Amino acid sequence: MTVLSTPAGVFGRSRELSARSHEQVVFCNDDESGLKAIIAIHSTALGPALGGCRMYPYADEFEALEDVLRLSWGMTYKAAAAGVNLGGGKSVIIGDPTIEKSEELFAAFARFVDTLGGRYVTAGDVGTNTDDLDVIGKYTAHVTGRSTAAGGSGDSARLTALGVFNAMRAGAESVWGTASLAGRTVGVEGVGKVGGELIALLLADGAEVCATDVNEVALQRISIDHPSVRLLSSVAGAPVDVYAPCALGATLTPESAETVEAKLICGAANNQLAHPGVEQLLRRRDITWVPDFVANAGGLMQVSGELRGADRATVEADVAGIFDRCRDIISAAHEAGTSIGAAANRFAEQRLDGTI
Ligand code: NAI
Repeated sequence: MTVLSTPAGVFGRSRELSARSHEQVVFCNDDESGLKAIIAIHSTALGPALGGCRMYPYADEFEALEDVLRLSWGMTYKAAAAGVNLGGGKSVIIGDPTIEKSEELFAAFARFVDTLGGRYVTAGDVGTNTDDLDVIGKYTAHVTGRSTAAGGSGDSARLTALGVFNAMRAGAESVWGTASLAGRTVGVEGVGKVGGELIALLLADGAEVCATDVNEVALQRISIDHPSVRLLSSVAGAPVDVYAPCALGATLTPESAETVEAKLICGAANNQLAHPGVEQLLRRRDITWVPDFVANAGGLMQVSGELRGADRATVEADVAGIFDRCRDIISAAHEAGTSIGAAANRFAEQRLDGTI
């Protein structure tokens, strides 16, 4: 086990993440099922802390703690910026999702979620899916994102893609003066659940799409569904108008910020910037970045709708509203002479402070 040079505490560490400390962090240990999990509630200022359960083979509990603290903090900002009345939380299960899943494991996890009495509501994330959430739902009511058969709202990829598409339209309006992707070349990195849905929306809008993925099967599916999509080995540095990161985070690094050819960056991946300073590097090259946590909130809006019993049309209207939210945030950034990321953070913080 790695011993970090700085103490792996919660109270001191939260200062690094934000001036706003985490409310509660729960370590969950169940010998019988082998569950080792951490649930982090960053904020319940706007409502119950909602955030997915990530299952990942972390090297040790310190790595897991770091991840859950950052992810739960990010969920507070995502919910606040999305305009939903939810707080920020997240959970991590330490384990390999390809071999260590079991009913016992998720039952034990669900019982820990239940002890929080609704202060934390779980959902899907990397390593967990609707099947796992259906199991969790047998042991606690504080779960969203279950299959429609089990009473949930199902997979959130379609509405996440719809939100990203609307955020991209707002970005396009700011860059080219027209809220449409018609005639633009869009490079989609990652043609999984969200990337695949996004490609369909882009093509319907008249965009030319090129795409990349590390998974051959995913690429084959796109070739069959959308034969006009050009498959490339990389889109981040390709001559495209828009770069849409829809795979993993941290693809925008000081190095890639110097080579990206797109004028607009907007995608679904969480935490796209390797560090916040990368946005300044992009700005210097006159590249517009639409903050990920604003663009990719469609899935969160779906589960928020599920919690309050909203119908599909209402939720779709909420997701379409990501266009106006992005437009307002971009305008606020231009007026204040700040980055769009700073304007998005400010909008979220004003909601948290109750000043808007
Ligand atoms: P997914 O797992 O279905 O698709 C991700 C795709 O990216 C896979 O096809 C994978 O092979 C590919 N990929 C992985 N590494 C790659 C690389 N280095 N280069 C190119 N492709 C690579 O995931 P999903 O659901 O489509 O999510 C995509 C991103 O959006 C993730 O970062 C996720 O955290 C984020 N997101 C997803 C939401 C949802 O509702 N599904 C909601 C908010 C964010």
